[in-house]
Amino acid sequence: MPSAELSVIVPTFKERGNVAELVRRLDAALKGLAWEVIFVDDNSPDGTAAAVKDLAARDGRVRCLRRVGRRGLAGACIEGMLSSAAPYVAVIDADLQHDEKVLAQMLATLQSGGADLVAATRYVEGGSAASFSQGRGAISQLATRLARRLLRTNLSDPMSGFFMVRRACVEEMAPLLSPVGFKILLDIAITGGDRLRIAEQPYSFGERAQGESKFNAQIGLEFLGLLLAKLSGDLIDPRFIFFALVGTTGLIVHLATLKLALALLPAQPDLFRVAQAMATFVAMTSNFLLNNELTYRDRRLKGAAQLRGFLLFCLIASVGVLANIDLASWLYVERSGWWLAGAAGAIMSALWNYAMSTLFVWRAR
Ligand code: GDD
Ligand code: MN
Repeated sequence: MPSAELSVIVPTFKERGNVAELVRRLDAALKGLAWEVIFVDDNSPDGTAAAVKDLAARDGRVRCLRRVGRRGLAGACIEGMLSSAAPYVAVIDADLQHDEKVLAQMLATLQSGGADLVAATRYVEGGSAASFSQGRGAISQLATRLARRLLRTNLSDPMSGFFMVRRACVEEMAPLLSPVGFKILLDIAITGGDRLRIAEQPYSFGERAQGESKFNAQIGLEFLGLLLAKLSGDLIDPRFIFFALVGTTGLIVHLATLKLALALLPAQPDLFRVAQAMATFVAMTSNFLLNNELTYRDRRLKGAAQLRGFLLFCLIASVGVLANIDLASWLYVERSGWWLAGAAGAIMSALWNYAMSTLFVWRAR
C-alpha cells in the first residue's frame, strides 16, 4: 500500500456518534487519493476512542491517538499533525460541520505549489456560516474582527478550525505553537508570518450532526489570553495573564472581606489585625480555587491533592508577601517614589507566586 499523501487530523471529545459517518464521508470525498485519518481523542467518557479503534480494526487508513490526562483542541491538533509522516496534513472537526467535499480541492491547491496552507473559510464569496445560532455568530464575528485588527492577519476566517498545510511547515514551528484553546489555525498563521503563503477555500459551515459543542466561556477567555500573548510578542505567557487576573480579583475579595469583618467585629484597634488576617485567608482561598478552575484548569487538582496544593499555595504566597515587603521597603528607602516601590514589590511577588505555583503546586504531569 502506498504511504499516505494526506493525513486528516480529527480532534475529538465525546463524538462517538459522528466518527463512523465522518470516515464514510472522507472515503467518498477522497476517492482515488492516498489518505489516512488520525483521530486524536482526549479519553472521551462516551467511548469515542473505542469506536474509532473498531473502525481502525477494519480499515487500515483509520488510526486513533488516545491521550489520557490531557484536554484541549489545539494541543490535540498539534499532536495529531506531528504523528503524521504524510507531506500534507488537514484538520477537520468530527461533528460534520466542516464540508469534507472541499478537501480534494485544498490538496490540489497545495500540490500545485501555490501555497503552504489552505484555510477553509466561511466569510468570503461562496462560503457561509448561516447555521450558526445568533449568539455564536456574533461571538465569531467579534473574535474575527479582533483578530484581524489586533494581530494583522489577512485570514478572512481566522477562527476557522478547518485547514490543510504542508507538514514540513508545522514540524518547523511546532515548538512555538500553543496547545491551549481552539485557535490553532490563527496560531499557525501568525507564527508562520510572511513566509507562510496562505490560500483560502470557501465552504458552508453546516449543522452539528450528533452530540454537543464544547465551546464555552473559558475558551473565549483563553482566546483573549492568546491575543494578549501575541500582542506582547510572546513575552507574556497567557497563563500568567490569567494568574494576574485572578490576583486582581483576590485584591477585591480581600478588601470586601476586610470591610465586612471590620463592620462585624467590635471596633478595637487590635482587631484590625484579626480582620486583616481573615481577609488574607479568604482572598488566598478564592485565589487558589479560581486558579485551580481557570489558570491551571488543564492540571486541576482534586481531593487530597487539592488540600495539599492549597497548603503549598499558602506557603508560597506568604514567602511572596515577605519578599514583596522587603523589596518595596528597600526601593522606598533608596528614594524611588512610593508607587514605584509598591508596584515593584507587587509585581515581584506576583511573578514569584506564578513561578512557584507553576513549578510546585500545579506542576505538569
Ligand atoms: N481532542 C479534543 N480535545 N478535541 C476537542 C476538544 C478537546 O478538548 N474540544 C473540542 N474538541 C473537538 C470536538 O470533538 C470537535 O470535533 C471539534 O474539536 C470542534 O469542537 P466543537 O465543540 O464542535 O466546536 P464548535 O463547533 O463550537 O466550534 C467550531 O467553530 C469554531 C469557530 O467558530 C470549531 O470548528 C472550532 O475549531 C472553531 O474555532
Ligand atoms: Mn462543532
